[in-house]
Amino acid sequence: MMNLKRQILVTSALPYANGQIHIGHLVEYIQTDIWVRFQRMQGHEVYFIGADDTHGTPIMLRAEQENITPQELIHRVGIEHKRDFDDFLVSFDHYGSTDTEENKLLSESIYIKLRDAGLIEKKSIEQAYDPVKEMFLPDRFIKGECPKCSSKDQYGDSCEKCGATYSPIDLKNPYSVVSGAAPIKKVSEHYFFKLSDPRCEAFLRDWTQVKTPLQPEARNKMKEWVGTEGKSELGDWDISRDAPYFGFEIPDAPGKYFYVWLDAPIGYYGSFMQYCKKTGLDFDYWTNPSSSTEQYHFIGKDILYFHTLFWPATLHFSGYRTPTNVFAHGFLTVDGEKMSKSRGTFINAHSVITSGLNPEWLRYYFAAKLNSSLEDLDLNLQDFVARVNSDLLGKYINIASRSAGFLVKRFNGIIAPQALAHPLLEQIRNASSEMATLFEEREFAKSMRLTMELADLVNIFVDANKPWELAKQLPPESPSLTHTKLQEVCTVTLEAFRLLTIYLKPVLPKLATEVEKFLNIPELNWQSIHAPLTVDNAINPYQHLMSRIDTQLIEKLLEANQTPA
Ligand code: MSP
Ligand code: ZN
Repeated sequence: MMNLKRQILVTSALPYANGQIHIGHLVEYIQTDIWVRFQRMQGHEVYFIGADDTHGTPIMLRAEQENITPQELIHRVGIEHKRDFDDFLVSFDHYGSTDTEENKLLSESIYIKLRDAGLIEKKSIEQAYDPVKEMFLPDRFIKGECPKCSSKDQYGDSCEKCGATYSPIDLKNPYSVVSGAAPIKKVSEHYFFKLSDPRCEAFLRDWTQVKTPLQPEARNKMKEWVGTEGKSELGDWDISRDAPYFGFEIPDAPGKYFYVWLDAPIGYYGSFMQYCKKTGLDFDYWTNPSSSTEQYHFIGKDILYFHTLFWPATLHFSGYRTPTNVFAHGFLTVDGEKMSKSRGTFINAHSVITSGLNPEWLRYYFAAKLNSSLEDLDLNLQDFVARVNSDLLGKYINIASRSAGFLVKRFNGIIAPQALAHPLLEQIRNASSEMATLFEEREFAKSMRLTMELADLVNIFVDANKPWELAKQLPPESPSLTHTKLQEVCTVTLEAFRLLTIYLKPVLPKLATEVEKFLNIPELNWQSIHAPLTVDNAINPYQHLMSRIDTQLIEKLLEANQTPA
């Protein structure tokens, strides 16, 4: 079973093209990347696909503000996003955009299939309209006074001062954020995807409650929506927006555009299709309803509905396969609070690099915190420093730096093969199936804890055998029992280090590559557990693999992100 070669398509959510990647986003891209790298190490055929989410009102208005075209904006931001993903070693096989010909054609053809299946309906609705700017206003572009406490300049959904929640029509003296004008009500015809159709209801009830092994919290949330037969909360989904809008025009409806949330998930397929064209991979094979391939979407909990209701329904009723599963994660807080610009904790990904932090420190810390639930996770900056220094440096790197020197100086870097049968090594090797299960199930905190427990055992072994004392007891090159013992102790230690490196490689790919060079071994994968160091490959002299985090770097990082309140 475990050795069957699986075919897996994996995505992370597509970040909006009007902002920079911050450390909250990174939780998701790093989580996905660790899982993808683990699957690759298993020898599976894996494609990790991403793209920028480029359409919608905020992007259109942002470009206007900057006096550039939306195309210019999304091009520039696309380059920045790619730079950040590369810096954090997020190994997309392809990174595209939703604003492509592939995505346009896919969105159009999917829409036509839904329409022909009788699942699209036109309805007139009344909406807030900016009479000066001559555009309909999404809720977040309307501000006004809080209906409860009368605080000024509050958004249309909730009050930052008193915490009240309401709808934009409740605001007192509402105004358009775009022009300042008072919004008026205006009627327009919209296109709806009829999720309330009995076919959709039945499909979604089955897909979310029976067919798909959703996370328990996710399944329960969906249960409230899909309800029981005849009693569902599913409303029809408004998939159109009026001009002016940056997006794809609806084929049979001039002046109407697909709502960004229609073409964004389709963008997973648009980007994958581009990749298939580039590499000759068979798109239809991967996306048809009877495909034996697997498809997973990693997302944040805030966009669950889109991925467990709208997206599977869109796919199913337009003749595609549906996701094998959707994996949602919680939100990142910093020092226990929501990321905040005034505290400097709204930390932009690029600033981590320019402040001189090693991106693998953050990858490790997130791994050490991540599990398979929707719980939020906290980046506590003090704990970050302590954890990385104690685990990665104190426990793991320390193993190599303590024993490599003796093996290189005294034994020309050659190991003692008889020591490879040592029970400690057996114990580390035996952990591999539990470790694999933990990675597979996205229980990274547990896999990191297990790895560090094994590292502790290795350090106890080193402390008990004191190679430095063995080395003192004998003149170099003298063949003696002590001599043999020193070589054996170093062999156990370095082989243990090699094994631990395999378990850490999905999280620390760059460091693992350095270790491969240092140990003079081929690229490590999961099979390498059973390919120990040999007498044919002398290890290289130990070279600095990773430094400790200096707390000054954290101060620098906070300063770099400080913006006046
Ligand atoms: N464009 C949509 C996704 C479309 S997918 C077809 C979007 N973009 S986003 O830029 O706002 O967010 C991208 C991903 O980052 C989402 O999955 C979101 O949940 C995640 N995160 C954004 N802020 C986050 C935190 N503070 N913490 C963890 N994840 C966060 O949503
Ligand atoms: Zn208020």
